[in-house]
Amino acid sequence: MFADLPAPIAACMRELEAADAIDRSDGTPRLARLRQVPPETGRLLAVLAAAAPEGALVEVGTSAGYSTLWLALAARERGRRVTTYEVLADKMARAAETFARAGVGDVVDLVAGDAREHLGASPAIGFCFLDAEKEVYLDVGRLVADKLVPGGVLVADNLLSHAAELAEFRSTIEGDARLDAVVVPIGKGVLVARRRMADPGGGEREGLGPGETRSCN
Ligand SMILES: C[S@@+](CC[C@H](N)C(=O)[O-])C[C@H]1O[C@@H](n2cnc3c(N)ncnc32)[C@H](O)[C@@H]1O
Repeated sequence: MFADLPAPIAACMRELEAADAIDRSDGTPRLARLRQVPPETGRLLAVLAAAAPEGALVEVGTSAGYSTLWLALAARERGRRVTTYEVLADKMARAAETFARAGVGDVVDLVAGDAREHLGASPAIGFCFLDAEKEVYLDVGRLVADKLVPGGVLVADNLLSHAAELAEFRSTIEGDARLDAVVVPIGKGVLVARRRMADPGGGEREGLGPGETRSCN
């Protein structure tokens, strides 16, 4: 992946890194900013996604497509596709331009709309990267946790930069007995949660009734 980064992908990454840095320093309003992951988080995403088990490879929060480019490397490596969800029309347009210029249209599906309205219909998930408005993390986290295949991985950004806003999300994921989770102090703080190969018997997760279990679909 990293040793033979295709030139059009590398060029798009460099341009987006420069654009993101300008956004952060010139007073661009928050919603108009790209708000991308840093490169080291991108590399972590690519490695984790390439190691993930069979299942849908999804991203919630595309922006201009920077993190998607890292996921596209993993998709190519594994002969898969990435489905990435974006709710804002201007970001959608920008991402579509990125994907065309980077030449990743063969492995990326860009989907318009609130991911919460799409994920219910998603096939079982092997890997998900969550990087959206903090208000949706809990809903998305719950939807994805239910859909992860055994060994499937949920990765979420901003766990340290937005620790207070994401406290309930973090405690929910860390308290889910089906998942093993850790927050890695890379970039803005990345939560990595892996679904265990077998769910704990009897549904030990808080909130489940006696004998009630959760399915992975
Ligand atoms: C932090 S930015 C994503 C940055 C991108 N992951 C990257 O590193 O290049 C968050 C994006 O999520 C989008 N978003 C927020 N809530 C969403 C939702 N419910 N469904 C889909 N996209 C959403 C926002 O419009 C914004 O473009």
